[in-house]
Amino acid sequence: MKARVSLDKEYVIGAVDKRIYGSFIEHLGRAVYGGIYEPGHPKADADGFRRDVLDLIRELDVPVVRYPGGNFVSSFKWEDSVGPAAKRPRRLDLAWKSVEPNSFGMGEFVKWAKTANTETMMAINLGTRGIDAARNLVEYCNHPGGSYWSDLRREHGSKEPFGIRLWCLGNEMDGPWQVGQKTPDEYGRIAYETAKAIKLFDPALELVACGSSNGHMPTFPQWEATVLDHCYDSVDYLSLHHYFHNDADDLPAFLASSVGMDRFIDSVVATCDFVRAKKRSKKPMYLSFDEWNVWFHSKDADSRNEPWQVGPHLLEDVYTMEDALVVGCLINVLLRHADRVKVACLAQLVNVIAPIMTDNGGAAWRQTIYWPFLYASKYGRGTSMNIKVDSPTYADKSFGDVPYLDASAVLSEDGASLALFCVNRSKEPMELDLRAAGLENLSLIERVELRHDDLKATNTAASPDKVAAKVLPADRGPLALSPLSFTVLRYSTGEK
Ligand code: AHR
Repeated sequence: MKARVSLDKEYVIGAVDKRIYGSFIEHLGRAVYGGIYEPGHPKADADGFRRDVLDLIRELDVPVVRYPGGNFVSSFKWEDSVGPAAKRPRRLDLAWKSVEPNSFGMGEFVKWAKTANTETMMAINLGTRGIDAARNLVEYCNHPGGSYWSDLRREHGSKEPFGIRLWCLGNEMDGPWQVGQKTPDEYGRIAYETAKAIKLFDPALELVACGSSNGHMPTFPQWEATVLDHCYDSVDYLSLHHYFHNDADDLPAFLASSVGMDRFIDSVVATCDFVRAKKRSKKPMYLSFDEWNVWFHSKDADSRNEPWQVGPHLLEDVYTMEDALVVGCLINVLLRHADRVKVACLAQLVNVIAPIMTDNGGAAWRQTIYWPFLYASKYGRGTSMNIKVDSPTYADKSFGDVPYLDASAVLSEDGASLALFCVNRSKEPMELDLRAAGLENLSLIERVELRHDDLKATNTAASPDKVAAKVLPADRGPLALSPLSFTVLRYSTGEK
């Protein structure tokens, strides 16, 4: 099979905002307790942060982490999670039917985020709470001192303000599962009023309004249109969430599902632009794809979960080689929408539908999906190029003709290298022809491949490196992509 990628140095999609390599930590399952935080673990530091997990997160170079939820945030009382840990209340979390001990809270997270070299993207409870709790939280986090809430933070040991720039106005407020679900008018109003209060405090803070919980919601995209009618001029981003699954064990259909993400983004962009036109607004609405991943392996186990535990085993998907291919395609979709998607969060980061898994008291290891995310985060920063892919296709019942080659290309910030991210969706090897106008001196400097003969292969504590990316010799013959593989081809442009 043969495929071609054509690009022109002058034709670009846009600058890649590094925050598209963001992730998410929710108070859910073992993301916090047993994940990033486990006092007493042999690898924990003095704060109880697991150093083995921190090392893996630093390797991923995640620029922003959304916190503390997710569905959890919609009945979260943030004041419970600050101050002396011994005095914090234990609460029932209704979203995940768990017990929240609040031994890890706001201050701990902000400290952890600094240690992990990442920024906090803080979500506000607009389910059970409203403007007052939100404005107090923002004051607690960001005001230097001399007011009730900022002085309380100082009293709690954080003299310096947290300096959190990015805030989510609630979570999935259209979802019937959400504590405090709202109609689009109810949500649009509270989002507008909360945004107003926050921007009065500091107009430089960036706000994300909730879009639909996924593109299959019956109210999509009317939800987006109504919500933005209320708050278009007060917010900076609209959120998108979507999870992908292979319930039917149909690999070609699963690999095609990234086309659904592509179309979902196109529809949200069109809806935002419709509202912009209605409002005669000069401002483009940017997108925050703040929950995306493969999620289905753990659903059966979760239906048998015993409620009201601290740190239960929930959403612990063990990812296969197939899942890593889909994640590679989903990253390509984000890169191909770099002009509008400015923030994205792989949901989630540790243990809960995550690239990193741990055992309580034991090891931490990389799941299969770690690898495409790692290489995109490493080499996918700069300018996303407008590429044309010529590839044989296959027929998919949901998405029509799907190309066997899925690709994206990023020219590095300094223009010295070009990275091509490729997923070969076919069972055949694929000969690749790259034509790059304006970049006539390309020479291959690195070639990284993720593949495994067994598409159901997984990484576990006993065999953590079964599925791992391999660096191949860069000078190996004509460019051939292995069957059902994820490949990164990195070229020197010879320009710097
Ligand atoms: O990421 C898991 C859950 O998925 C989040 O809590 C929620 O926002 C979404 O439905």
